[in-house]
Amino acid sequence: MSLQDKIAIVTGASRGIGAAIAKAYAKAGAHVAIVYTSPLSTESAESVKKEIEQLGRKAILIQTDLGNTDCGEVVLLKTLQGFNTEIIDILVSNAGIYKENHTLEFDPGLFDRTMAINVRAPALLVKSIAPKMPKGGRIVVISSMAATWASPTMDIYSASKAAVNAMLKCWAVSLGKSHGITANAINPGFFPTDINSHFSEELLEKFKNMQAIGHRLAHTDDLTGLAVFLASEQSRWITGETIECSGGSSLG
Ligand SMILES: NC(=O)c1ccc[n+]([C@@H]2O[C@H](COP(=O)([O-])OP(=O)(O)OC[C@H]3O[C@@H](n4cnc5c(N)ncnc54)[C@H](OP(=O)(O)O)[C@@H]3O)[C@@H](O)[C@H]2O)c1
Repeated sequence: MSLQDKIAIVTGASRGIGAAIAKAYAKAGAHVAIVYTSPLSTESAESVKKEIEQLGRKAILIQTDLGNTDCGEVVLLKTLQGFNTEIIDILVSNAGIYKENHTLEFDPGLFDRTMAINVRAPALLVKSIAPKMPKGGRIVVISSMAATWASPTMDIYSASKAAVNAMLKCWAVSLGKSHGITANAINPGFFPTDINSHFSEELLEKFKNMQAIGHRLAHTDDLTGLAVFLASEQSRWITGETIECSGGSSLG
């Protein structure tokens, strides 16, 4: 599957799932804007950029807080300037936060921050970037299996992922008709990245046992093929879908 010379934005691409997607897109031929926020991640974002450049593709770094209401405009302008382009082909809204919060300790501040980054930011990015997409533009949201799967400490996170999945169905309809853009989500199961580095060995073992395919933890490369497909021409008749990528963890 080719993404030859496509301009892609991948948010949260300094590490974890987003970094793997950014590199997979570059391998498929795309130029990639790497969006991240923390100064602590600059080194790692630069290393993703370097790997992309070694593949002969262009990469730019955009350091910004997607919790800000001007994030769509900031990412749009820096991408247009950085690649000297008027067109953006692919938006991967991957950046997200997760903090455990038990139902009886519901934290309104955490709710607002989680919704700002996991839900409002994707909407603001789409608002700014979709008008710059050509017919056949692609929006890919990295959501979560948590959108449909219950845990006693995931009320806020699960709500944010269910919300973004609901929004993307609306984007599929609104932007499909007007702009020929597709919008799909990947719902990952458990991936051992920094977002859940606090999980105990016991819990990791539990995740291994939950999967229908093999007794192992997922690797980010288990997901990148699907992310490339959803950004490619081959996915042209698929829109408004959420596809679980969890090794069958939710099958029971
Ligand atoms: N790992 C899993 O098990 C799992 C499962 C289901 C869904 N997901 C989803 O997959 C996505 C990626 O997760 P991950 O596991 O790769 O997480 P991760 O390793 O913690 O990486 C998170 C990425 O998001 C960026 N980010 C966070 N807050 C941001 C903000 N305010 N502004 C800009 N960038 C921000 C981070 O940038 P910095 O490096 O600058 O902090 C980092 O690049 C998330 O949406 C997550 O909810 C993950």
